Amino acid sequence: MTDPRHLIVVANRLPVRRVSTIDGSEWITSPGGLVSALAPTMTERGNATWVGWAGTAGRAPEPFTHEGIRLVPIELSRAEVQQYYEGFSNSTLWPLYHDAIAQPEYHRTWWDAYVKVNRRFADTVLDIADKDATVWVHDYQLQLVPGMLRQAMPDLRIGFFFHTPFPARELFLRLPWRAQIVRALLGADLIGFQTEVMAHNFRHVVPRFLDDVSSDIDDEVISWAGRSTVAQRHPIGIDYDRFATAASSPETASAVDTLQEALNHPRTVLLGVDRLDYTKGIERRLRAYSELLDEDRVSADDTVLIQIAEPSRTNVNGYAEIRAEVEQLVGEINGTHGTMTRPAVHYMHRSHAFEELIAMYRLADVMLVTPFRDGMNLVAKEYVATRFDDTGVLVLSEFAGAAHELPQSVLVNPYDIDGLKEAIEFAVSMDRGEQRNRMSAMRTAVATNTAQHWARTFIEELEH
Ligand code: F6P
Repeated sequence: MTDPRHLIVVANRLPVRRVSTIDGSEWITSPGGLVSALAPTMTERGNATWVGWAGTAGRAPEPFTHEGIRLVPIELSRAEVQQYYEGFSNSTLWPLYHDAIAQPEYHRTWWDAYVKVNRRFADTVLDIADKDATVWVHDYQLQLVPGMLRQAMPDLRIGFFFHTPFPARELFLRLPWRAQIVRALLGADLIGFQTEVMAHNFRHVVPRFLDDVSSDIDDEVISWAGRSTVAQRHPIGIDYDRFATAASSPETASAVDTLQEALNHPRTVLLGVDRLDYTKGIERRLRAYSELLDEDRVSADDTVLIQIAEPSRTNVNGYAEIRAEVEQLVGEINGTHGTMTRPAVHYMHRSHAFEELIAMYRLADVMLVTPFRDGMNLVAKEYVATRFDDTGVLVLSEFAGAAHELPQSVLVNPYDIDGLKEAIEFAVSMDRGEQRNRMSAMRTAVATNTAQHWARTFIEELEH
């Protein structure tokens, strides 16, 4: 089916990356939730374009088509990567929107670069958009784009989605450019948030910056300057079928056997899978595990923790420090509790192929997802989707968006080391019956609100 209305997705990154081959290089689809969520809808419409950065500094490639989707690369110079991406996006907005876990930095030169790059994204859309196109802008890197588009082409349908949290009012108000950001966001017809609390946080700041606004914090509709913007919850999901199907394949079963063998058949496998980011709470999780071992409440003779930490934003302040801290803790734990044949923690600082991740999810008796703050956290949902036999326990931070949809998990406050220890102990000893009750409810939730459902309902709401 083709829809006559042109759909343009605008995100910081394109859904592809270039990899080297024997004959040169080729584009492959990036792993990741946004791509699998949007690809089916975009391919189906037949008239869809994705605008984004190709991931390296310097000249952008010419527009091209990949798996049925038109891709329009945006150029970023080395200085823009430093000031717009590493600077304003990831050293100002990212920490601020994650409860200021790290100190946000405020630099006017970074803001100038953010405005300039947002303008470039907007101008690129304006060059290619039909008069009545639907444009869906994604995430904190591009908050000015809705306003820029609205001013130049008032008839566009414009949606915006926050993958990250939107912070509490008191935090957002610290931002020197808060008024420009709120006004630009209100250029959108629909702004989606991962949770109701985040939508509420946004609705709470709006009246502060607009005189003639009609907005009630509990009302999803904000009316301003003769237009309305709906600010509401649209929690993102995962491609459930892809995870569930891979989980039950014979290849996965044999990969799990191989891992069991390599690990010496531990009774309990604990697993953490995160981008190596200071928001993820990896160090507190390791401290909790370490104390459980010290206190003989868990034994490295029959229990092992696998921690995958995918390299991320290595040039941004705070990331090298968190890596050093995590790696020191892993060394200490293994030094104290590991043996020649049985380390207490297996730590891997690299990304893993989809098939490897699925095997690890299937291997894990307890999945530890304990971020200090997270918009959603798709790893929690991925783990659940692979538990076709309803075994396994999810320990989940109450500060991840996913906690709102998965209340049957073992919910924890990730700052509370004693609470984390109790939760891990509780999870390790949970009987099969209780595991089944909790997991089957969570699996139904994850299978119902899929990535495809999220994309479809957001676009429907935006267009109709
Ligand atoms: O979820 C937040 C987010 O910034 C996404 O926009 C992005 O896909 C992901 O984290 C990875 O971050 P980056 O693009 O900075 O590597």
